[in-house]
Amino acid sequence: MSVGFTRRNVLQAMGLTAASMALPRTLRAAQKDDESKQAAAKPLTFFGWSDTHIPVDGDGSKLLPAIDAMNRLPGKAYPKNIGGIVDTPTFVFNCGDITEWPTHQAKKTYEDLIAKRLRYPSYEILGNHDEAGAEGFAPAPPIMKEWFKRRYGDLSYTFDRGGVHFVCPFSAYDESLGNPAQDITAEAIDFIRKNLHRHYSPDLVPEKWAAVPEGTPVVVATHLCFDAMTNRDEFVDALAGANVIMALGGHYHKAKVTPYRGINFVQLPSVKSAWTEVTVIRITPTRLTAIPYDYTKNQWSNNPSKILDAKIPR
Ligand SMILES: [Fe+2]
Repeated sequence: MSVGFTRRNVLQAMGLTAASMALPRTLRAAQKDDESKQAAAKPLTFFGWSDTHIPVDGDGSKLLPAIDAMNRLPGKAYPKNIGGIVDTPTFVFNCGDITEWPTHQAKKTYEDLIAKRLRYPSYEILGNHDEAGAEGFAPAPPIMKEWFKRRYGDLSYTFDRGGVHFVCPFSAYDESLGNPAQDITAEAIDFIRKNLHRHYSPDLVPEKWAAVPEGTPVVVATHLCFDAMTNRDEFVDALAGANVIMALGGHYHKAKVTPYRGINFVQLPSVKSAWTEVTVIRITPTRLTAIPYDYTKNQWSNNPSKILDAKIPR
């Protein structure tokens, strides 16, 4: 299974360059020591969940076991074939449908849970339920959209953690289609194209300051998962020229991994499903893994269709 980024790209993202090979021996030794310290730095670990669907009355009880499991996961040994132990995650990512329908109660429950119960920072994107509601009764109150804009400045945003660039577009959902499978919108595709190589909106940051170094590993997150994406080829085409190592999705309420045209599509699990899982993602200079952990059974998934284990060629 191939991924589009190399160990060299990651080392560059960490500030290490191949130019060190041309240095005098003493400097090389010092550099090597420095490299080993940096290479020994913790890989980027984050947890993924999706479709938390907090009901209109704000009952967050279904989220509690997932949050408590995420709080407990650091220090747990991975399955032997992955190896190592789970690091403290840098953040948790929610791939949308935070609420069942955008009410103040549901929004407050989510805010409280990620601020007071979850022990790590949280990033998220909006899903169709946050936007328009389950039954398509338009117009839905813009409660989640307004909360999101206050939090991120806009409905689409980017951020950077651990040398990885995350691109998080908002793709408006068309309830009138009556079909959960639909296109990623042209606006979202445009946002992806523009932000694969830039940290922030070029409207906010001058381009010369905002360029993402070539080869920087990139993760793109959309609420629609691979199976729901009716224009998936257009989506993959839009990723050309960037080092996209993974595309995160939600929407279909279960963990699933689909490699397609060189992109690793990783679908995140939902607390509103028969599978009580959260996905643990680890990105090192040599390897990318994503594996769900079942917090009812207290065990790692052994379902190959849910697990990504991609080595990064040296
Ligand atoms: Fe959805």
